[in-house]
Amino acid sequence: TTAGKPIACRAAVCWEPHKPLSIEDVVVDPPRAGEVRVRMVAASICRTDLCAIEGHTIIMFYEGMYPVILGHEGVGVVESVGPGVTSMQPGDHVVPSFGKKCNKCAMCASGGTNLCQATSGQCVMADGTTRVTARGTPVYQVACIGAFAEYAVLAEDTTAKVNPAVPMKHLSPIGCCIPTGMGSALNEAKVGPGSTCVVWGLGGVGLAVVLGCRLAGATTILGVDINPDKEALARKFGCSEFLDPKTLDKPIAQYMAERFPGGGCDFAFESAGSLTAMKDAFDSVRVGGGHCVVIGGTPHGTLLGIGPGDLLCGKRISGCLFGGYHFRNDLPKLVDEVAAGRIPIDDFVTHDFRFEDIGKALDVMRTGKGIRVSLQF
Ligand code: APR
Ligand code: ZN
Repeated sequence: TTAGKPIACRAAVCWEPHKPLSIEDVVVDPPRAGEVRVRMVAASICRTDLCAIEGHTIIMFYEGMYPVILGHEGVGVVESVGPGVTSMQPGDHVVPSFGKKCNKCAMCASGGTNLCQATSGQCVMADGTTRVTARGTPVYQVACIGAFAEYAVLAEDTTAKVNPAVPMKHLSPIGCCIPTGMGSALNEAKVGPGSTCVVWGLGGVGLAVVLGCRLAGATTILGVDINPDKEALARKFGCSEFLDPKTLDKPIAQYMAERFPGGGCDFAFESAGSLTAMKDAFDSVRVGGGHCVVIGGTPHGTLLGIGPGDLLCGKRISGCLFGGYHFRNDLPKLVDEVAAGRIPIDDFVTHDFRFEDIGKALDVMRTGKGIRVSLQF
């Protein structure tokens, strides 16, 4: 048994920005109090991982600390548990999450958000140290996950035990991509039956938005992407129309104003990570209750200009992380939705690679050919 002992294994280490990830021999320490050690079975790549390799800090859970093991979409099996862990045991199937719920801070107490003040900027464990060492140097685990490694030590209170009957091969997008998109439609926008929805950016997150809109009973779901190759999959997920803004002879907001009664759509979602798309999305919702939801990440310090008059006239703009879902408690329910066939998990995964081929997998994401690339350990 490996319990209580350090484990020597492989991890993809990002030593500094703009360098290829390097597969290294690392040592993963045993879990301490309130922690579990997990053998990763599969992981997938999110746009945010590419941003970290390019040296951008997108959101609060990543403060640009190097060397780091990236990857926050993963699934695995508990190898051993630290002292005091009661909710998991070796052999359990788990999905890590990147958010806490301390139930003590002002945010948790407010009840109006899934965020918690205890989460901010965490790439170290609760005691301030890391559990992974490479070449004698401590290595951060991004968002306290670091899924691009054969083993990871995770906090019990951010790790969800899920239905073991669901195959893990393609399950990892349930850790970010799918709830982020689906929840922005279901929880943040609260799309209702008969709504008109427009979704900018049809990567994994955008397709999950489309799925959420469809599940909510939206009648018109228009997908917008500058890459025309996204059309087929967009329609498969539920888009009733597809638009490449490059082919329009007018500004897209004007097109939407003419396209929808009331001068705009009910709901616009930005899941492209583009400032232009954010402006276009906001401009495309109708005054008097139109709601624009921002999900895409932009580099820290980016500002979005919007007209205060539009706000006075009842346009709304908001955003959310992880689709507003409770990071840990909602993950088992989402996995059950996969089991029930409500979430077509395999449709999100367009490519499979072995873990050691992560460099090729990253290239597939960079070129826009991949929706989600699944790495198998
Ligand atoms: N207008 C329309 N579509 C665009 C634009 C634009 N201006 N710019 C980019 N896109 C499209 C791309 O062609 C791609 O299909 O947006 C899509 C983005 O998909 P991915 O790169 O696969 O990203 P994804 O992992 O889905 O994440 C989307 O959500 O969580 C955030 O940081 C993440 O910003 C990223 C966004
Ligand atoms: Zn809290």
